[in-house]
Amino acid sequence: MDLTVLPDPTAVAEAAAEQVTRVTRSAVARRGLVRVGLSGGSTPGALYRLLTQAPWREAIPWDRLHVFWVDERCVPPDHPDSNYRLAHEQLLAHVPVPEAHLYRMPGELGPAAGAAAYRQTLAQAFNLPEAAAGATFPVFDLLLLGLGPDGHTASLFPGHPLLSETGAWVAPVEDSPKPPPARITLTLPVLNAARQALFLVTGADKAAALRAVIAAEGEPDPAPPAARVRPAAGEVRWLVDQAAAGRDAPG
Ligand code: 6PG
Repeated sequence: MDLTVLPDPTAVAEAAAEQVTRVTRSAVARRGLVRVGLSGGSTPGALYRLLTQAPWREAIPWDRLHVFWVDERCVPPDHPDSNYRLAHEQLLAHVPVPEAHLYRMPGELGPAAGAAAYRQTLAQAFNLPEAAAGATFPVFDLLLLGLGPDGHTASLFPGHPLLSETGAWVAPVEDSPKPPPARITLTLPVLNAARQALFLVTGADKAAALRAVIAAEGEPDPAPPAARVRPAAGEVRWLVDQAAAGRDAPG
C-alpha cells in the first residue's frame, strides 16, 4: 500500500498540493487536458486553500483543468452542505479555471434525477456514448478522496448495495448514514477506472478506519468501501497525518 505518514494536516495538504501539481502537469503534457474529481467533507479545504497560493497557483495548468465531483449532497449549490460550494469558495473562485470546464453534480435535482443528469454530463465531457455505461468507464486523471470514520469514501457506505454496482457510472443514494442522507456519487467501477486515486486522511477519529483499510489489503471484498478502491490500471496513494496513523503527534 502506498501510504505516506506526515506530521500534521498542513503537511498532508502540502504533499497533496505537490501531487496535484505533478499529476495535472503530466496529464496536460501527455493529453492536453486533465480531468480531476473533487470530494467534499472537511479534509480537502486545507488543500483547496493552498492551491490558490504561491507556488502552487502558478504551477497548475488551470486553463486545461476539467473539474468534476466525486460525490454531492442533494442540496442547492449555495447550501452550506454543498460540496460544490466548498470547492467554489475555497478554490475555484480564486483560480482561472474556465467556467465551461466545471462539471457540477446537480444535487438540487435530487438523487435519481441528479445521477441521471450527471451520467449525461460525463458522457459528453469524456466523449463516451451513454449506452457505453457498463462496458466503458470515464477515466479520471486524478480523484481526490476522503475516508469516513466508518470506512466510507465518496458516498459509498459500508454494507450498502451500491458496493456491488458494476455498470453504472453515477448512482443515487437515499440513505447515507452521514448527513445529509440524499446524495449523488460516482460508483466504485468509476473510482477504479481512474489513473490515480489520492486519499487525504487526517485526525485521530480516522485511525480505526485507516487501520481497517490497511488490514484489508489484498482481501477480495473488504468491508471498508475505501479499501475497495484499487484502480485496475492506475494507482492509489494515501497521504495521512500521524493522528490518523494512530501515532502520537510530534512533541
Ligand atoms: C462527502 C465526502 C465524503 C468525505 C468523507 C471524509 O461529501 O461527505 O465526499 O466521502 O470525503 O466523509 O470527510 P471529512 O473530510 O469531513 O472527514
